[in-house]
Amino acid sequence: MNIDIEKLIENIDLDMLTPEIEPDRQYYYIKKCHEYVKQLSQKLGRPLKANVTTFGCQMNTRDSEKLLGILEEIGYEQTESEEADFVIFNTCTVRENANNRLYGRLGRISNSKKINPHMIIALCGCMMQEEKAVEKIKKSYRFVDIIFGTHNIYKLAELISDKLDSKSMIIDIWKDTDKIVEELPVERKYTFKSGVNIMFGCNNFCSYCIVPYVRGRERSRNPKAIVMEIEKLVKDGVVEIMLLGQNVNSYGRTLEDKTTFAQLLIEIEKIEGLERIRFMTPHPKDLSNELIEVMKNSKKICRHMHLPIQSGSSAILKKMNRIYDKEHYLALVDKIKAAMPDISITTDIIVGFPGETEEDFLETLDVVRKVKYDSAFTYIYSKRTGTPAASMEDQISPEVINERFNRLLKEVKSISSKTAGKDVGKIVKALVEDVNEHNPSLMTGRMGNNILVHFPGDSSLIGKIVDVKLDQSKGFYYIGVLCGEL
Ligand code: SAH
Ligand code: SF4
Ligand code: F3S
Repeated sequence: MNIDIEKLIENIDLDMLTPEIEPDRQYYYIKKCHEYVKQLSQKLGRPLKANVTTFGCQMNTRDSEKLLGILEEIGYEQTESEEADFVIFNTCTVRENANNRLYGRLGRISNSKKINPHMIIALCGCMMQEEKAVEKIKKSYRFVDIIFGTHNIYKLAELISDKLDSKSMIIDIWKDTDKIVEELPVERKYTFKSGVNIMFGCNNFCSYCIVPYVRGRERSRNPKAIVMEIEKLVKDGVVEIMLLGQNVNSYGRTLEDKTTFAQLLIEIEKIEGLERIRFMTPHPKDLSNELIEVMKNSKKICRHMHLPIQSGSSAILKKMNRIYDKEHYLALVDKIKAAMPDISITTDIIVGFPGETEEDFLETLDVVRKVKYDSAFTYIYSKRTGTPAASMEDQISPEVINERFNRLLKEVKSISSKTAGKDVGKIVKALVEDVNEHNPSLMTGRMGNNILVHFPGDSSLIGKIVDVKLDQSKGFYYIGVLCGEL
């Protein structure tokens, strides 16, 4: 936890009027909730526990770290168990099954609340930005205490305080915001790597996608605030950062002093002590030559590009409103590979978009074969109410989609298995992240190209960048041996 923020909270006087200005207002509520947690904890004779469950993408993962930062400052201890005093689900709604998973979990948790009546249950995140979902929760899951959305997660302490003063469900959902509140507590999952938001929202409106509706309009953070945050993280021991945005290539367009993503990278590269820079997601429609150049000349930007294609058919891409076609995408990949021959390229693909014909699907397979992705996330098209694609004719039958999906999976696997293992014998740099889940004598490190390597070692190496010789390929990962620390 950031000591400066802790001091600021300590200095707050609860007898004064509630501050109007952020983040002071939240510091006030954090302190107020802290009093409640302290008293209840004394009464129960044990510390109070909080459980945060995250669905969805890295944006949500980062948001959850902010939620946890606030909860810990309030006085809750983090627990992995849902049998907690405060439980929050940070939801995702990008595909139908994300929603169903939440309902399943809520069904289970209602019993815990009966046993532990002071338990507070909160829901936030993308799914809560959908009116229909909130209506359903209000009707069928009345034991939920707090609901808020994606734009006001910084208000968690205030909402908890409201709940403590009220018997009814607290609902606070904003349609959109132009506000970015800085300087709130964050509790990072890893000590040595961190996500960093560089922008919020999305303006692209791909026709299948719900994100622009639930995350609002695109807003970029000020480059100075980003650099300052990373400098602080580095001081705290972080060596790798992942810059986060729905389309990082349009970073800076909403700023008064226009800055490009490539220019931001140049500034971040200068930060001393920072070793590795990653980013996601770049949209192929506006990936600039400037960015390729900056990557090529950089010593810190990892040789990995996650470049979602979605479909290989230009006709489908047009209906998806992706603003690029197959030829543009393939030319872009050629350009990237020519500049950085050792780069690893990964992608996202949707199967069964409305109107997708067998020919369209074959175009997707063709791109997969041509690009030779190191790996690909493959998704079955999911109809999201409110998006243009949901009302398109020619929705594809589940049988056809499943058959195509299996063919795609086979192709992706067969191609990545051919390229897997190409680095056997090489010495590479890996950031040691964890003790191996299945074999505690092995450590797990991540190479620059995002591929994992397991090697004998001990937990004192966690957070360090080490040289590892790749001995053996196991398909999606390597087995190696430590050569010596950097
Ligand atoms: N901003 C990123 C993607 C964020 S969503 C980008 O543009 O690349 C992550 C992935 O979910 C998308 O790349 C897409 O492949 C998938 N996705 C989004 N909406 C979907 C839907 N309705 N059905 C199936 N997959 C979807
Ligand atoms: Fe969704 Fe497209 Fe925005 Fe990505 S760029 S979040 S796929 S609308
Ligand atoms: Fe899901 Fe929201 Fe991310 S809908 S994929 S958590 S932006």
